[in-house]
Amino acid sequence: MTKQELCQKAVDMLAMAYVPYSHFPVGAALECDDGAVFAGCNIENAAYTPTNCAERTAVFKAVSEGHRTFRRIAIAAATERFTAPCGVCRQVLAEFNPELTMEVILVNSRGETREMTLRDLLPWSFDGSYLDGFLPEEEMT
Ligand code: THU
Repeated sequence: MTKQELCQKAVDMLAMAYVPYSHFPVGAALECDDGAVFAGCNIENAAYTPTNCAERTAVFKAVSEGHRTFRRIAIAAATERFTAPCGVCRQVLAEFNPELTMEVILVNSRGETREMTLRDLLPWSFDGSYLDGFLPEEEMT
């Protein structure tokens, strides 16, 4: 899929966003290493905290369908300003791309794009490697 097609998929998802509280639609299109693409939108909740961002909707759709390695994600918002992924979404993306090499493409309301890597957005990230070989003290004896 071309970059433009991926960005268009993210833009198309703006129409699916469930945003009765913020009225701030976000769309995402996640491209896996094998070329499969999963799209997502934000899904809000009256209790606010259960709200799921567009990026995580796309990641969870992909992982639940057996896709765990990602190449690119396009993130579209209806604002002229480029909307950056929240910290929680950066962390969730990093879980499946601990090398932080995947491309993040932001798309604004004019269809303009800005590209960066996950490393640009989440340097010094905490990942599973910190837990390797770690055991609580009582279990070490
Ligand atoms: N939101 C996203 O879906 N992705 C982002 O990158 C930033 C924020 C959503 C969460 C909430 O539904 C709305 O935007 C306002 O915060």
